[in-house]
Amino acid sequence: MSGSSSETRAEPRMIVVYNQKGGVGKTTLAVNLAALSALSGRRTLLVDSDPQGNSTCSLRKEAVPGRNLSDFYESCLGLNLFRQSLLEYVTTDTGLENLHLVAADRSLEDLRNKLENKHKIHKLRDGLRNTSYDAIFFDPPPANDFFALACLIAAKEVLVPIDCDTFSVRAARDIKQMVDEVRADHNPHLVVSGMIMNQYQKGAKHGAAIVRELVEGGFNVLEPFIPSSVRVRESHSEAIPLVVGHPDHAVSLAMKALYKGLMAAPLSEKGSAAVRRGATGARATVKASRFEREAP
Ligand SMILES: Nc1ncnc2c1ncn2[C@@H]1O[C@H](COP(=O)(O)OP(=O)(O)O)[C@@H](O)[C@H]1O
Ligand SMILES: [Mg+2]
Repeated sequence: MSGSSSETRAEPRMIVVYNQKGGVGKTTLAVNLAALSALSGRRTLLVDSDPQGNSTCSLRKEAVPGRNLSDFYESCLGLNLFRQSLLEYVTTDTGLENLHLVAADRSLEDLRNKLENKHKIHKLRDGLRNTSYDAIFFDPPPANDFFALACLIAAKEVLVPIDCDTFSVRAARDIKQMVDEVRADHNPHLVVSGMIMNQYQKGAKHGAAIVRELVEGGFNVLEPFIPSSVRVRESHSEAIPLVVGHPDHAVSLAMKALYKGLMAAPLSEKGSAAVRRGATGARATVKASRFEREAP
């Protein structure tokens, strides 16, 4: 373990970037936060759990035959007990020294029913036992399906990217309910670390109103908010995380600040003064109204 960072913990941070809605920034955040973690010296694993394989494609231009999440799940469905550690399926060739990847592709889709029928929902969690990683990020599909649930069971904390549309608050409530159920049934220590406002347009009243509604609903809204930029899409097609290719870009700077706050904060839903809002609702409400005043 490199452990050069003074922030390094004995227990790995295990973070799922989760929202059942698609297109809100799960993959973008998972890839960039994992890259920042690796750059900070943490031994980091990114587990792509989405059959679309978007985080895999954001890091690598080619597939990794024989070493991906479906190979792991195939072994769980068979009797090969020796290869049921997820760590056997890790790819180290990601372009970043401390960043490893469990890749995913379409073949995951074909396994879903079998995995459900054979009750393999805890295999991802069990496959990560005895890990020496300092941080593990999960990128689930945009669904409440087997693969998303497996991530919520394996992780310790949930980050929720929110796009500023009308349905975001309702989606946030559904997520809270889902996390409460997972906590009750499978994973008693799971916490929601916070909501991340993605593609936030400074000055737009709508976004500020959504932030205020989330805060009033008791959610921790993390700061800073992430702006929108075409560079984000370009970074996915170049297969280089934005924070690596363009570390000084406004989106990268926002992600770095978020990452720093997240890693410095204790693992709790109550929130720390530095990055969390929502314990009382007051600060984010002030924040939201500040943005509203900036509106043209
Ligand atoms: N801050 C941003 N600015 C501009 N485009 C973004 C931003 N965040 C995400 N995107 C783009 O939005 C699309 C959906 O993002 P993605 O991370 O794949 O979402 P999800 O994993 O939730 O489906 C992608 O094309 C991505 O490049
Ligand atoms: Mg995605």
